[in-house]
Amino acid sequence: MHICYIIAMQAEAQPFIERFGVTLREDFFSPLPCQLYEKHNDEDDSRLSIVTLGRSHDRDLLGCEAATLATHAAIERLKPDLVINSGTCGGWERKGAEIGKVYVADGVIFHDRRVPGDDNWGTQGVGNYPVWEHSEDVASQLSLDMGRVTTGSSLDLQPCDEVIIEREGGELKDMEGAAVAFVCSLMGVPVMLVKSVTDLCDDGADTLETFLQNLKKASEKLSEANERLVKLLFSRYSS
Ligand code: ADE
Repeated sequence: MHICYIIAMQAEAQPFIERFGVTLREDFFSPLPCQLYEKHNDEDDSRLSIVTLGRSHDRDLLGCEAATLATHAAIERLKPDLVINSGTCGGWERKGAEIGKVYVADGVIFHDRRVPGDDNWGTQGVGNYPVWEHSEDVASQLSLDMGRVTTGSSLDLQPCDEVIIEREGGELKDMEGAAVAFVCSLMGVPVMLVKSVTDLCDDGADTLETFLQNLKKASEKLSEANERLVKLLFSRYSS
């Protein structure tokens, strides 16, 4: 089995990279900015790839465009059996979220693609992409909660986005999930999303400040969950 992670930020990926001892393949995707880390186990032919989005403007790339590009390049070049988008997200206290809590997605939508006046473009905009059929099984075996991921291009939350999030039952807010799932749906590759909460959209705190404060803790929690997840996938879901 070949699992390919798409992880936006280096800080989100780093604890996981260290735990798994994957190796950087410099310039593998050049001229694209995304970066490949990988490890191959000859004994059982299992393969783990981690693709980060790369950098621009002295910051890690975030968002749907870079995630789309990285996911497409990774699927074309690496031909994984399963893509996992993992990273941090915002949550809502009133929906049960806590800082550092790790979730598996039971669905993923976009919340900032409005085409008022046309229902079909409205539906296309929301997306509502399928997640891997074993996501629920896996979440239950790892004792992780499930939640609906809602993706947009901004860290802040605008009232018009919140209308869509509430209407569609969004529970975990990120900036890449639906873009990764969109590409996977086109390419016929199953996708799972594993997310850890850095900030709460309903606690009145500054989002960026809280995100940066909690990034290390949430990324470590994410790495612990991903380590258990990879072991489970290689042992029980490899054909
Ligand atoms: N990633 C972490 N926190 C987020 C938030 N509140 N919105 C979007 N992406 C995030």
